[in-house]
Amino acid sequence: MVRFYGSPDLETDRLILRKLELDDIQSVFDHWISDERISDNRVSAAHKTVDETKERVKKIVRGYESKAFCHWGIELKEEGELIGEIDLYDFDHSTGNCEVSYSLGFNWWNKGYGTEALKAVVEFAFVHMNVHKISAAHNTDNPASGRIMEKAGMEQEGIIRHMIRNAKGQYKDCAVYGILGEDYLRNRAQPNILKGIQDGTG
Ligand SMILES: CC(C)(COP(=O)(O)OP(=O)(O)OC[C@H]1O[C@@H](n2cnc3c(N)ncnc32)[C@H](O)[C@@H]1OP(=O)(O)O)[C@@H](O)C(=O)NCCC(=O)NCCS
Repeated sequence: MVRFYGSPDLETDRLILRKLELDDIQSVFDHWISDERISDNRVSAAHKTVDETKERVKKIVRGYESKAFCHWGIELKEEGELIGEIDLYDFDHSTGNCEVSYSLGFNWWNKGYGTEALKAVVEFAFVHMNVHKISAAHNTDNPASGRIMEKAGMEQEGIIRHMIRNAKGQYKDCAVYGILGEDYLRNRAQPNILKGIQDGTG
């Protein structure tokens, strides 16, 4: 059975994964959610106004009232700058399976941050939350996302044609990836990828 701890701080070499706050609204808007280079690879449209972002962040902050809500802002440890977000969602209580999704601001792409954040969440999900399987899907024209899944130990399970229709009305083929907790724990080469888990869940 999945054990829920909410969204405790997760610390890696260069990042702190922490809860989003209302003070983050402008950074979320400026750094990724208003940018079509990010939204083109997701289902939701880029935000046109900060008010849209305000409603979304308010909803996320309300979500933290539930222990079963797992959504982190990705912050650079040294600079204290918020650069993206990552979440675990669609928990299926009969299987213990869930999905992962993530977005990083364009200025911070290809520096290894996406991989670092995904590895931290995968570690937390399997080692602490007892998740059974994590899945994700990326548009086949967004190979960077598949690459970070691979680097986090996920395997491609197939390609689903026209799996999504994006905000511009374009159908996209998606590559589906997954990783089983039992495989992750067996192959876990780096047991202490997380430097620390705060909020008393460590
Ligand atoms: C997907 C995303 C999170 C990746 O984050 P990131 O911090 O740039 O990822 P990393 O730097 O850790 O790794 C990127 C990898 O993709 C590779 N890559 C980048 N562009 C690529 C391309 N066009 N083709 C193939 N590989 C590519 C990089 O070389 C790197 O792999 P390597 O370390 O083996 O060289 C980021 O691009 C993003 O937010 N995209 C928009 C939103 C999105 O796609 N979300 C996921 C929806 S499924």
